Amino acid sequence: MDRDAQSVLGWRYEPGIIFERGHGVFITDVDGNDYYDMTSGMMCLVLGHAHPELVETIREQAGRLVHHSSWYSNPWAIEFAELLGQTLPGKLKVVNFAVTGSEANEIAMRMALGVTGKFDILSVIRGLHGGTLAAEAVTTVGGARRRGLGPLMIPAKANCIIPPFTYRAPAGCEDRWDEISLQLTEELIQHASSQQVAGVLAETMMVAGGMIVPSNEWMKGLRRIADKWGALLILDEAQLAPGRTGKMWGFEHYDIVPDIVTFAKGMSAGMPVCGTITTPEIAEQARGHAGIPWAGTYPQDPLPCAVALKQLQIVLRDDLVSRAAQLGHVLRARLDIMKDEYECIGDVRGKGLYQMLDIVADRRTKQPDYEMAERVRYYAAAEGVIVICVKNFIRLCPPTIISEAEIDDALGRLTRAINRAMSDRTTPLHFAHSSSLAQNDNAI
Ligand SMILES: Cc1ncc(COP(=O)(O)O)c(C=O)c1O
Repeated sequence: MDRDAQSVLGWRYEPGIIFERGHGVFITDVDGNDYYDMTSGMMCLVLGHAHPELVETIREQAGRLVHHSSWYSNPWAIEFAELLGQTLPGKLKVVNFAVTGSEANEIAMRMALGVTGKFDILSVIRGLHGGTLAAEAVTTVGGARRRGLGPLMIPAKANCIIPPFTYRAPAGCEDRWDEISLQLTEELIQHASSQQVAGVLAETMMVAGGMIVPSNEWMKGLRRIADKWGALLILDEAQLAPGRTGKMWGFEHYDIVPDIVTFAKGMSAGMPVCGTITTPEIAEQARGHAGIPWAGTYPQDPLPCAVALKQLQIVLRDDLVSRAAQLGHVLRARLDIMKDEYECIGDVRGKGLYQMLDIVADRRTKQPDYEMAERVRYYAAAEGVIVICVKNFIRLCPPTIISEAEIDDALGRLTRAINRAMSDRTTPLHFAHSSSLAQNDNAI
């Protein structure tokens, strides 16, 4: 860890862990300790670690073709794009590849600008779309991330959409918060935007901002807003596809279809292949404008495309979407029982195999308890379970191959971690290098 601190600049959770290998739902550190990887890496490894068929694909493809000029194509990029198109409704069939989720969202915004000739991108408060500068500008999770970036950020009018965060809606408004949040959004667009709206950008579920799962009515309202302002509706599925929520794409839970959808993380199988999918019409209208098609050095490289293609084929072949729905019910039922037992769990939210605990100091005031959340995450690692904690939100997002017995064991350990965290509020833990608490801006 000392050598890491001296030579690698990065956020680091406590306790520091150096991982060395992984297998299935487990990840192992250099001292040989196994942990349940309840975050699938960075929410990427839908099939868990070292899936034999993916290992074989990597071996074969590494010996065949890893990279070529991006002015040419390869069979794996074409097949992956075609298969993605087959999983999507309507005319969402054309893929512009990227390397990261941030880049995929930048492409989507470029497409919206190119097609509409307008500039405003409206994004959701509590949304997260990445860390490159334009993606950061439409990200509002933790204002501290933007400190010091000054005029490199798009003016804040971009962040116009009030989220359907019913749990923390103003008191008395909870039941009507969908309707009120849409009304407030309209008001903001009218008065804070230039009224020249190119795109409406939203995560289908606002994961990092508090696992906000919109209602069907709210999503239909968002579609209406995009149509009314002549804007493209862009849904960011980086955290959700494939299958994690119990549907291949998160937006299939709703009666809407976006104009553009972006994929990353889970769809990438942990390889640098992400992208932006749209209709042939939008792709052609965007061509030649605002830097579209996006190319760069690595997007659509054969190695990551072959691996992501194989993963998607396995997800379809083994019907892991239904498995995520079924096991999601199991995970949720267990977490709801934990919520009944522990005062510090204010709410459980999520869909399928992606669930989150909202850690609070007081259930009545819903005051977030950031430090308690960090303590739970810390002790979870000590009990052999890796979870993600951002602010007071603890997220569980295991590989879809996890078994019911493994869920039970992992949650048993998490329960022990909560007990340890609750009985120890004093041992000083050093969170300065965890992005969650390092720049605490007291946002709730
Ligand atoms: C919803 C969403 N979109 C985009 C991104 C950015 O992806 P990347 O880190 O690959 O740039 C993230 C990252 O956490 C995300 O959660």
